[in-house]
Amino acid sequence: MRIPFIAGNWKMYKTMAEAREFAAKFKTLYHGTDVKTAVFAPFPQLALLTKQFEGTGIGVGAQNVHFEKEGAFTGEVSVPMLKEIGVEYCLVGHSERRQYFGETDETVNLKIKALLAGDILPVVCVGENLQEREEGAEEKIVSGQIKAAFKDICHEDAVKITVAYEPVWAIGTGKTATPEQANQMCFCIRMTLKELYDEETADKIVIQYGGSVKPENASEIMNMEEIDGALVGGASLDPLKFIEIVNF
Ligand code: 13P
Repeated sequence: MRIPFIAGNWKMYKTMAEAREFAAKFKTLYHGTDVKTAVFAPFPQLALLTKQFEGTGIGVGAQNVHFEKEGAFTGEVSVPMLKEIGVEYCLVGHSERRQYFGETDETVNLKIKALLAGDILPVVCVGENLQEREEGAEEKIVSGQIKAAFKDICHEDAVKITVAYEPVWAIGTGKTATPEQANQMCFCIRMTLKELYDEETADKIVIQYGGSVKPENASEIMNMEEIDGALVGGASLDPLKFIEIVNF
């Protein structure tokens, strides 16, 4: 039985004051549901949010991490640093990191392993770009990303990983993949996981859809057979919109 998981990715938005305001409001709106929820915030806001959301059931996640425990890596943040302040989840391989910051399939795999070793739950993002979809290569691209991300990860650890399918052409564009397109790719991801592991393991892994999810389309997306959750960008910045999505 997979528990639905709806998360907000704030990207590089919200100052400390804005994060505090969001948390205060969101806590009054969130009454606990059967859906797991979390907010992925910029590094400076994480400690504030883990404190604000303590005991509420609302999780807090980082948007990136380095795979080494410590070292001379100026500007980077490690798994133990995140763990110490109560961070529960971490995004890995978001398309914006792949596109603008040199994230590769190899670093995605190293980061997932470091997070699992440090007891933080990875949410790994995969997705094709417009050209790849137009060429009909989307399933090949995404299953390749999945195989690379899960390389040398054992069954017991694999089930701790959430996959977020985010077609690059649907991120921040207002263009949502049709629920059928999203469902088809989530099915393909599950088949790839079944190939890598077995049916039982693949059936346990939560797969989210991300890309222009909003209150108006959340329930249609969440009602698709293979889609277990959503990774929400823009609409997660507004507590009223985000709660509507969580309560789809
Ligand atoms: P939008 O919901 O703004 O399209 O962003 C999706 C996303 O990238 C979430 O990680």
